[in-house]
Order: sequence, then C-alpha cells, then structure tokens
Amino acid sequence: MELNVIPFLDLQAINAQYREALTAAFDRVLRSGWYILGDEVTAFEREFAAYCGTKHCVGVANGLDALTLSLIAMGVGPGDEVIVPSNTYIATWLAVSHAGARPVPVEPDLRTYNIDPARIEAAITPRTRAILPVHLMGSRPT
Ligand SMILES: Cc1ncc(COP(=O)(O)O)c(C=O)c1O
Repeated sequence: MELNVIPFLDLQAINAQYREALTAAFDRVLRSGWYILGDEVTAFEREFAAYCGTKHCVGVANGLDALTLSLIAMGVGPGDEVIVPSNTYIATWLAVSHAGARPVPVEPDLRTYNIDPARIEAAITPRTRAILPVHLMGSRPT
C-alpha cells in the first residue's frame, strides 16, 4: 500500500547549517569521556544565560524536568491550580501534576490553536497560581 504523507517538519534541512558545529561538539564530548554535567554543560549554561540576558541558567535532562522544576521553584504545589492549554503536549500537564498541583485545561482559539485568552478568565479560581501558555502551534490569526 502506498502511503502519502504530507511533509510536516524537515529537521535535516533545518539542522544542515549546524552540521559542522554539532559534529565537532559531539566529537569533543565523546572524546572527553565526560557525559554528565562537566565543562560542556557549564559552558552551555554560561553561554545560554548570556544569550537570554539573564544571570543564571541551569541545565536539566529534558523539557518536562525544566517545566516541573520551574513550577516547584515558583512554590507551586499541592492545593494549587495551573491553567494549561487543553491541546498541549503531555509534558505541560505532567509538569503540573509532578509538582503536586492540579492542571486546569482551557480550550484553544480555533483561529490559532493556541490557548484562547478569552477563556482563561473563567478558569481562574482563588487556587490558580500560574498560567502555562504553550506556543506549540505557533500560528497567528490571519
Ligand atoms: C510543548 C512541549 N513542552 C514540553 C516538552 C517536553 O520536552 P521533553 O520531551 O524534552 O521532556 C515537549 C516535547 O516535545 C513539548 O513539545
């Protein structure tokens, strides 16, 4: 059976321009034998903080951990509610529940597929501690 797939995202094309830099970085890490934290992560943290114009950057294992740790660092925990897009990636929801809080889904704006700002207010309660918007869909109203 022939499968017609609509090309969605060509990561090879996007990353082609970084090929030499990425290969060199990978080779450097492989040769160092230091695969957890170490000089490379310290350098990344310093450079990314400078890029973001902030004092600090803490490297973590993945996006889910970054979201979870950010919520915990903000003091979000049991008894709290966090508003999330109902159509987001699962990590948004899991970060809130891993922090011990309750995710509250809000439906998207059908023009953008991002969280509908007009629906957020109705979801806010005295327990709301944060709104976690996600620009996963990235589109703008036309
Ligand atoms: C919107 C969004 N948030 C969080 C994550 C989680 O990232 P990770 O897979 O590194 O945990 C993803 C992953 O695709 C994502 O799309």
